[in-house]
Amino acid sequence: MAKTWATFGADLHLDVRGTRSRASLERALRDAVQSGRLNAGTRLPSTRALAADLGIARNTVAEAYAQLVAEGWFTARTGSGTWVSDQAVARKARPRPGNERARPPRYDLSPGSPNVSSFPRTEWQAAARRAVANAPSDALRYGDPRGLHALRTELADYLARARGVRADADSIVICSGFVQGLSLVCRVLSSRGVTTLAMEEDGHRLHRDVVVNAGLRARPIPIDTDGVQVERFGSAGAAMCTPAHQFPHGVPLVAARRTAAVRWAAENRAVVIEDDYDGEFRFDRQAIGALQALAPDVVIYAGTASKALAPGVRLGWLVAPPGLRDDIVDAKRLFDGPHGTLDQLTFAEFLRSGAHDRHVRSRRLAYRRRREHLLRSVSQHAPAVRVLGVAAGLHAVLELPRGADAQAVIATAADRGVAIAGMREFRLSRRPVQSNGIVVSYGTPPDHAFSTAIARLCAVLAEAIR
Ligand SMILES: Cc1ncc(COP(=O)(O)O)c(C=O)c1O
Repeated sequence: MAKTWATFGADLHLDVRGTRSRASLERALRDAVQSGRLNAGTRLPSTRALAADLGIARNTVAEAYAQLVAEGWFTARTGSGTWVSDQAVARKARPRPGNERARPPRYDLSPGSPNVSSFPRTEWQAAARRAVANAPSDALRYGDPRGLHALRTELADYLARARGVRADADSIVICSGFVQGLSLVCRVLSSRGVTTLAMEEDGHRLHRDVVVNAGLRARPIPIDTDGVQVERFGSAGAAMCTPAHQFPHGVPLVAARRTAAVRWAAENRAVVIEDDYDGEFRFDRQAIGALQALAPDVVIYAGTASKALAPGVRLGWLVAPPGLRDDIVDAKRLFDGPHGTLDQLTFAEFLRSGAHDRHVRSRRLAYRRRREHLLRSVSQHAPAVRVLGVAAGLHAVLELPRGADAQAVIATAADRGVAIAGMREFRLSRRPVQSNGIVVSYGTPPDHAFSTAIARLCAVLAEAIR
């Protein structure tokens, strides 16, 4: 007999291979515990029930249970049955190297996430309730790969209002965050014969990997205080940049370069992918509008809910130029299909009711206060450190004075439970990093941990530059 299944009361299958001997049953039960399918505290079926399920003698099951009790995998409680013991958890197979999840730092100031504890749970729940109650049943069918029309209409309105984007419902494709949008666009570009994509020399490795995985060559372009050096896009068939707030430097792309970027695209039959990841959070002056507004025919605008709401929401959107629209929609249809309807309905309602605008306004205020707290603390405790890139977004670059060692600061901070990143981590080319900077996200910690996180960081900085 190759395989026999026993189904426990809960939905667990016990796979007894080979002969139905006591040894095979013991092995199958140990496997189930080790692989996590049988958790500590789970009650096992009675010997009579399992024997009947497997078609074996009840004694064989009773002996297997007794053996596993003796080994510590199970505990037997007289009169109430056999259970997976708590110690069994400690015996579970260790995760394979590389699969372990590092323990989260106590004070997380590493860039990437906003303060997820400020997610507007109540308003989101209310929007979900209204949206699901009022949605026509048709909304729950297989839908348009671009996403729900209702959401695309709300988004077109919001993006025009908040970011100056030129969009209508037909130009928008809803996707799972920026990363999926980028992946779809790169596949389309590659299928159209584009071979090289110019991208900012400092940025996310994941984004570079997505580009390369889609079959494109990533050409790193240096960044200076005016943003990415657009004049070096050269012969690339596409370029990607973060014009509102370069990640991680924090500088905006100056007006002359914005014009030059769209002129380059128009003259070279190329496209620019605009990553507008944190465009909502501008503190010093009027928000810098989207680059896309200058030339909607050559700019693919990409937005995300990851900063304004939370990365776990996995909602993003592309505004595609007419010439690329059909291909991008086709890629979405082939690789994924439409984004989950319930989330789309909820987000549409969240936008329609004004809850999103209210949330962004209140977050902007809260992040502005944090930014001021950071600026004040650094100037008080480590005045030699320059804080850059804080006109917008949720992170800052702290440029250490000559002689201070950024890597040592990062290591000491980690020892004290504070996670920060070095500029070096974001370099996507082999060119050495000139900056002696660290990247600090003042957006990430929950409110109760924020001032301690900044105080600990400033203490490390003060020691390092003493
Ligand atoms: C530069 C940049 N682009 C895009 C994103 C958002 O990516 P996603 O929408 O896939 O979460 C982030 C998030 O941290 C980012 O830092």
